[in-house]
Amino acid sequence: MAIRVENNVFYLETAHTLYQMKADNFGVLQHLWYGPKTDCCMDYLLDYPDVGFSGNIYEAGDQRAYSLNTMPLEYAAGGVGDFRVPAVCVTHEDGSRALDLRFRECHIKNEKYNIPGLPAVYADASEAETLEILLKDTASQVEVILKYGVLSETDVITRSVVIRNQGDTPILINRVHSLCLDIPYGDWEWVHFHGRHTMERQAERAPLIHGIQESSSTRGTSSHQQNPAVLLCEKGCTETSGFCIGAALMYSGGFQTQIERDQLDQVRVVMGVNPDTFAWTLSAGGCFYAPEVILSCSDHGMGQLSHHFHDLIRNHVCRGKYKLSKRPVLINNWEATYFDFDEEKIESIAKQASELGIDMMVLDDGWFGKRDSDTSGLGDWFVNETKLQGGLNRLVERINRMGMKFGLWFEPEMISEDSELYRKHAGWAIRIPGRNPTRSRSQLVLDMSNPEVVEYLYQVMSKVLSENHVEYVKWDMNRSICDWYTPTLPNSRQAELPHRYILGLYRLLERLTHDFPDVLFEGCSGGGGRFDAGMLYYCPQIWCSDDTDAHERSFIQYGTSFFYPISAVGSHVSAVPNHQTGRTTSMRTRGTVAMAGSFGYELDLNTLDRQEKEEVAGQVTRYKEYQSLIYNGLYYRLSNPYEENLSVWSFVSKDQAEVLVQGIVFRASSNSLRPRIRLAGLAADDSYMVPGEERVYTGRALMSGGILLPDIKGDDVSIEFTLKKAGYSEGSPKL
Ligand code: GLA
Repeated sequence: MAIRVENNVFYLETAHTLYQMKADNFGVLQHLWYGPKTDCCMDYLLDYPDVGFSGNIYEAGDQRAYSLNTMPLEYAAGGVGDFRVPAVCVTHEDGSRALDLRFRECHIKNEKYNIPGLPAVYADASEAETLEILLKDTASQVEVILKYGVLSETDVITRSVVIRNQGDTPILINRVHSLCLDIPYGDWEWVHFHGRHTMERQAERAPLIHGIQESSSTRGTSSHQQNPAVLLCEKGCTETSGFCIGAALMYSGGFQTQIERDQLDQVRVVMGVNPDTFAWTLSAGGCFYAPEVILSCSDHGMGQLSHHFHDLIRNHVCRGKYKLSKRPVLINNWEATYFDFDEEKIESIAKQASELGIDMMVLDDGWFGKRDSDTSGLGDWFVNETKLQGGLNRLVERINRMGMKFGLWFEPEMISEDSELYRKHAGWAIRIPGRNPTRSRSQLVLDMSNPEVVEYLYQVMSKVLSENHVEYVKWDMNRSICDWYTPTLPNSRQAELPHRYILGLYRLLERLTHDFPDVLFEGCSGGGGRFDAGMLYYCPQIWCSDDTDAHERSFIQYGTSFFYPISAVGSHVSAVPNHQTGRTTSMRTRGTVAMAGSFGYELDLNTLDRQEKEEVAGQVTRYKEYQSLIYNGLYYRLSNPYEENLSVWSFVSKDQAEVLVQGIVFRASSNSLRPRIRLAGLAADDSYMVPGEERVYTGRALMSGGILLPDIKGDDVSIEFTLKKAGYSEGSPKL
């Protein structure tokens, strides 16, 4: 049993971790522990300091040290004497804002819970259990149900919250976070992932200051600017040692992570839908379901924490035919042609690609409606026969005849004012009556909360997918959302729109992925503007960034790797000078960096000379050879590119017999020692060899002393070599 309750203490155990809380004599649910297994009730660590200006619940009488404001709470509500950031706040019909949550009952179930309308971690009944704890505010009859999914083998606990209004009058939910985690002791730092379009998920580690630090998005998407995932690590925690906790929100809309270091140096983390763009009227008898948070911790550093998340997301978040299988190596025409293409051009790129071993041709933006630039056509999802004479079918057939699959770009959630759809349904675009809407990339956003819009999109997209042999969809989304207003809701409920938009988006994705199970869906939002566990439930890979420069990509992919598996990272080789940075890197370096992901190309292969084409063919062969190791092996960050002159990572097969080391050394330096890197995850007592070399190293030597990299000449030079356990041969059992 992963979950047990003894004397009102709740034990949630995974293979190596323990999560613990306790309903005390007043029915207050106190958080006791999240960390390595201790085989013990941790309530002896509770302290009750008498801190001034920290009030007491009424029933505590003269126990002045019993204060909600100082104790670790499992789920903190606003308005009743805990002045730290709350997880939940509601306004009652009389205008008061308070919830006094006390424990009522609990249930244990032998399966993982689901969340209606929202993506959630899934597992077989044998792999997971659920704990439900019911808390109640007696005065209003509002109930809060805390849900915990325990996936023992993966060392993951999921959390979600349901608000149930059992009173007679509606309430307004002002905020409902999915995670509230109080940590009373320790010296903590946080790592969050900030960025911008073409420079997503830059890892930033900083000490926690007193007060509140926040990472959030109000853009209607999880965003390029912040990511809904956060790491807390104890000071000194490294990739391979020390304690850390990670939390990732399974949600693709605006989110908020707040971390407060309080007057007693205690830490509280809350994470969930962003209350700045959210409020929800919950009628009497109604329920509200908050999205899920995936939680894990590690006593062996951030590398192991990443393995927990990679494993969980690959096996219990991603779904469908391509969840675990190899993905086709693709060629995308965007950077090769932008909007300027016709059938002949696409066929010529596909032909060249097929000769080099590439598996799939993806036709990007510009194939539909009147779409010769980014100012028109969005919403008109029927083929532009001026560009593709003979239609889509003929093009797909010809490409299939070359032995290649065919994929297609859509940006379903958007509408151009210059489109047939807008001329018919201007009211489907999000805008506030009486105001001009904000344009971004010259486009407006469709109201995904409107069921008619979702139905229209389902119909037009499924028509294209069923009439043509399309085996891949790139699902793009190219702006942030503002001007929130929908005619489908009364004025008093407009703040529900951002969340209803996401529910509509998920409904459409669910229906299409269900009805077209053989299609590989790749997520995208101007590159990685919606790279989150919510989208990964529908799309097992996401285009990581519109920045295809190998140098910058190595930073973007470093940040992305903390939470998201390598198989989820769409990554392509593009032309030089790079279109985003103007930098020129070698074909080899571009290939090495792009291979640490779901691999492809994004350039006109016809412009390459013979030697470059041979290099491409070699890369495709190598990638196919490594793909299983890259997807199924354990990924190690072997350097920190922000602190060192290189970014190096490795993939180690689960049996530790095969290792692929890849990376990029940024700047050459004369008269210097060769760079050295220490490997990780090897069998310490076993011996390893670099194929083709005589020398034998012990795993222990490679992890402690490391290995010298080849002599580097030039900037942004690729590192790529394999190691094999001595005695290991191709016939040995794999992975
Ligand atoms: C976004 C995507 C690109 C490309 C363009 C097309 O920016 O991230 O890969 O598809 O849109 O307009």
